[in-house]
This record gives sequence, C-alpha cells and structure tokens, in this order.
Amino acid sequence: MKVLYTCILLIISLFSVSSFKIDIDSSNNCQDGTIQIAESIPLGLNLQTNLTTHDAWMQLITNAKKSIDMGIFYMTLTDGGQLNPVYGGQLGMDIFKALAEANSRGVQIRIVQNQPSKSMPDNDTQALAQMGVQVRSINWPNLVGAGILHTKVIVVDQSSAYLGSANLDWRSLAQVKELGVFLQNCPSMVYDTETAFEQYWEAAAMSQLPNNWGSSFTALFNQTNMASLLLNNQQYQMFLAVSPPQFVSDDRTGDIDALVAAMNAANSSICISVMDYTPASLYNRPNTFWPVMDNAIRAAAFNRNVKVRMLISHWNQTNSRIPQWLHSLDQVSNIDVRWFVVPDFSVNPQVPYTRVNHAKYMVTENQSYIGTSNWSEDYYTNTGGLSYNIFNTQFTSQLQSIFDRDWNSPYTFPITQW
Ligand SMILES: *[C@@H]1O[C@H](CO)[C@@H](O)[C@H](O)[C@H]1NC(C)=O
Ligand SMILES: *[C@@H]1O[C@H](CO)[C@@H](O)[C@H](O)[C@H]1NC(C)=O
Ligand SMILES: *[C@@H]1O[C@H](CO)[C@@H](O)[C@H](O)[C@H]1NC(C)=O
Ligand SMILES: *[C@@H]1O[C@H](CO)[C@@H](O)[C@H](O)[C@H]1NC(C)=O
Ligand SMILES: *[C@@H]1O[C@H](CO)[C@@H](O)[C@H](O)[C@H]1NC(C)=O
Ligand SMILES: *[C@@H]1O[C@H](CO)[C@@H](O)[C@H](O)[C@H]1NC(C)=O
Ligand SMILES: *[C@@H]1O[C@H](CO)[C@@H](O)[C@H](O)[C@H]1NC(C)=O
Repeated sequence: MKVLYTCILLIISLFSVSSFKIDIDSSNNCQDGTIQIAESIPLGLNLQTNLTTHDAWMQLITNAKKSIDMGIFYMTLTDGGQLNPVYGGQLGMDIFKALAEANSRGVQIRIVQNQPSKSMPDNDTQALAQMGVQVRSINWPNLVGAGILHTKVIVVDQSSAYLGSANLDWRSLAQVKELGVFLQNCPSMVYDTETAFEQYWEAAAMSQLPNNWGSSFTALFNQTNMASLLLNNQQYQMFLAVSPPQFVSDDRTGDIDALVAAMNAANSSICISVMDYTPASLYNRPNTFWPVMDNAIRAAAFNRNVKVRMLISHWNQTNSRIPQWLHSLDQVSNIDVRWFVVPDFSVNPQVPYTRVNHAKYMVTENQSYIGTSNWSEDYYTNTGGLSYNIFNTQFTSQLQSIFDRDWNSPYTFPITQW
C-alpha cells in the first residue's frame, strides 16, 4: 500500500500569508526520472563535457510550468553582457532572459539569496524583483552567528533540480570550472531538496532560527533510509545532506556526517576534487585546527590501504595557509595530492576571480558525493550548503572518469610546486 506524505507548508511573514501543499508519494521511484552530471569547462580549456551547466539550467528554466525556487549565494548573470563576447558573458544573459521569460509566462519564481553588500551587489535580483519575482535576502550571521548562505540550488515544479558548485554568475558558466547534478522528473528526491529551499525561504523572514524545524521540514530520506529510485532506467540510492547543523531538520543527515561516512566506507579508492581543502577554520579568529575530514582521509590510507587522490585548486587567490596541509597529506603512503590550475584566458585583461576549478565532489569505489561547500571547518559548521550522496555504479564510474580526465590532464601540477 502506498504511503501518502502530505505536507502543508505555511509561509507566514508580516506582509503576506500564503500556504501551499506538496503531495509526495515517497514510494514514487521516479520511473521517468533522469540524472546527469553538468559541468562548466572554462573557455579555452581542452576538456570535454556531455552537458554544460548552461544547458542544464536552460532546460530547467525553459521547461518550468509552475514554479522556480532558487536558493543561492548571489546572482550576477548579466554583468558580462557588455564585455567583448569572447569572454562568454552571453551565457549568463541567456539564463537571465530565460528567467524573465518564465516569469512573464506566469511561472512563480522565488529567490532566496545571501544578504547583498557592496562587494556582492544584487542588481540582477533587484531587476527580477521589479518584474514581480519574489526575492528574499538572508542575514546569515544574525541567524547562525557566522557564515553565509553559500548554497546553489534550483528547484523547478517540485520535480526537477540542479545542485552543485556553480553560482548564478556568468563567470560560473564561462570562466570557472564547475560540477553539479541535474535531476529531472523525480518528485520524491526533489521533495527533500525543495524542503531545504523552504528552510532558507522561511529563515529569511525570521529574526531567530527555531530550535526544531518541526514536521513540515522533516526529511523523507537520509543516510540510513536512502531513496530508492529508478533514474536513467537504473536503480539508484540517494539522499540529500545539509549544513550547517542549525539547518539539519528532523530525519536529515548533516553534510559533514555524510562526507565522513563516505570516506569511512571506502576500502579501495577515494578521489577528491575540491577548490579549497584545509583541516582548520578559515574565517573565525583565531583559526583553529579541525581534523574531522583529515582524520578520515589518513585513516583510510593508513589503516585500510585506500588509494587517496586529492585534486585541489591553485589560483591567484589561494589562501596561503592551505599548502602546508596538502604537503603533509601528500607525505602519507597511499595519498597523492596535486594542484589543478586553470590557465589564464587567451584574451587580456583577465576577468577578476575566475580561472579556477570551483567543483566540490568526491568519488569512492562505491559512491558519489557532490556538494556546494569548500572543505574547511567554516563551511560545515556555520555556512549554508548541501550535498547529493549518490549510489549507482554507472553514475559513480562516470564521475570517476571525470576525475581521471582532470587528474591526467595537462592542468595538474605536483603539490610541491607551491
Ligand atoms: C559522456 O557520456 C558517456 C556515455 O554516457 C560516458 O561514458 C562518459 O563518461 C561521459 N563523459 C563525461 C565527461 O561526462
Ligand atoms: C550594479 O548597479 C550599479 C548602479 O547602477 C552599478 O554601478 C554597478 O556597476 C552594477 N554592478 C553590477 C555587478 O552589475
Ligand atoms: C532517517 O530516516 C528514518 C525514517 O525516515 C528515521 O527513522 C531515522 O531516524 C532517520 N535517521 C536520522 C539519523 O535522522
Ligand atoms: C568495506 O569493507 C567492509 C568490511 O569488509 C564492508 O563492510 C564494507 O561494505 C566495504 N565497503 C565497500 C564500499 O565496499
Ligand atoms: C594571476 O596573476 C598573474 C601574475 O600577476 C597574472 O599574470 C595573471 O593574469 C593572473 N590571472 C588571473 C586569471 O587573474
Ligand atoms: C555500497 O554502499 C551501499 C550502501 O551502504 C551498500 O548497500 C552496497 O553494498 C555497497 N556496494 C559495494 C560494491 O560495496
Ligand atoms: C571557497 O569557495 C568560494 C566560492 O564558492 C570562494 O569564493 C572562496 O574563496 C573559497 N575559498 C575559501 C577559503 O573560502
């Protein structure tokens, strides 16, 4: 017998009272569902992808019939529009126009973003708000004490979603290397993703976070009770994990717990591709040692002879405290660490804060972890982020082949280089 989960989410703010209902049949295994890896390959890099982030987002937005819900760090899709077209600014303009068009055809768009500032202007979301899109900003430090809303998630019609490293920024489509998951026609799995969005949306209107998020935000699936799905006509198991702990609602798995469990489960291979790795905090004062991930990596390599490969980004803004930890890890038997460097664009001037591998994922012999967070304490203890944890042989081998493509590419350097 089917179990029908009915969830009524009441959104109550000072100015509006709205309510809606999501009927989710948690036994829905998504038989028409698909899952794909979407990547942004910076212009000029000689690497191939089957699906670009731009194309995944265009499909999501142009197919939207009822709703588009976006939980984002910030949006700067249009400010590349005036540049020489060789920079790829058009890719961001496309997405912005598609959003405006969806809004005009009656799709209800809601955007929750991190509190804008001088250095993180909200021109694009202001322009969308003028068109009638609902926009909220979260003052994250007021609610959590520190950190930012750093997540990057788009949910469409409560049945399709993008979750990954790419910001809603034209640079993330043209000049920065990104990786994410594009899930289509899978309401049961997307339900948990939508609930994470609803938490941000609600939180933006709160002066204090609840001690308990209550039953409307209870997760359907978690690490011990994974979704069993039929995606791409294959059996998948999957769950969403959430950080920081203040956003881990009932029956959810915390992001760091999912990450460490995946490392602990590996018996032969762990491959990590992450922009920044440091077993410490980076943003509080003073920074403090935080060995949670580091211990799991060293234990896997030393205790179980797991072959660990780590591909970490080197760019002009690499934090000078990072290399020491990577040098240390590389000294351990079974652990190999390399830098990944995206060369300058062929045209000068360079676009500031670009030409970097911004992807954040891990693949073991048994599972894939694709997230939105850099790997330092701050991201797991106070910043808003999400990960999809995916168990399927074909998916995992495809992610492995992407890792191997990058590891064996001309863009890697020995860790001793810097
Ligand atoms: C592209 O798709 C093919 C066929 O599904 C797959 O074998 C390959 O790994 C994919 N390549 C990338 C980079 O995703
Ligand atoms: C945002 O708008 C302001 C005022 O119109 C402008 O000065 C600024 O350059 C814009 N910034 C971006 C990133 O578009
Ligand atoms: C996972 O979900 C199941 C049922 O949905 C629940 O019984 C269990 O307590 C959850 N686990 C965690 C760690 O929340
Ligand atoms: C690793 O080995 C342990 C002990 O043999 C086993 O329980 C576990 O399932 C294995 N993990 C994987 C991913 O194969
Ligand atoms: C990084 O810095 C070097 C040296 O200043 C400069 O030549 C290069 O263009 C910079 N790259 C980017 C992408 O800004
Ligand atoms: C991978 O992990 C899942 C979930 O823990 C487990 O059921 C499965 O047996 C594992 N597969 C392998 C090949 O170890
Ligand atoms: C982590 O990622 C963000 C963007 O996702 C980037 O701007 C930042 O510089 C990165 N590094 C650190 C140490 O936070």
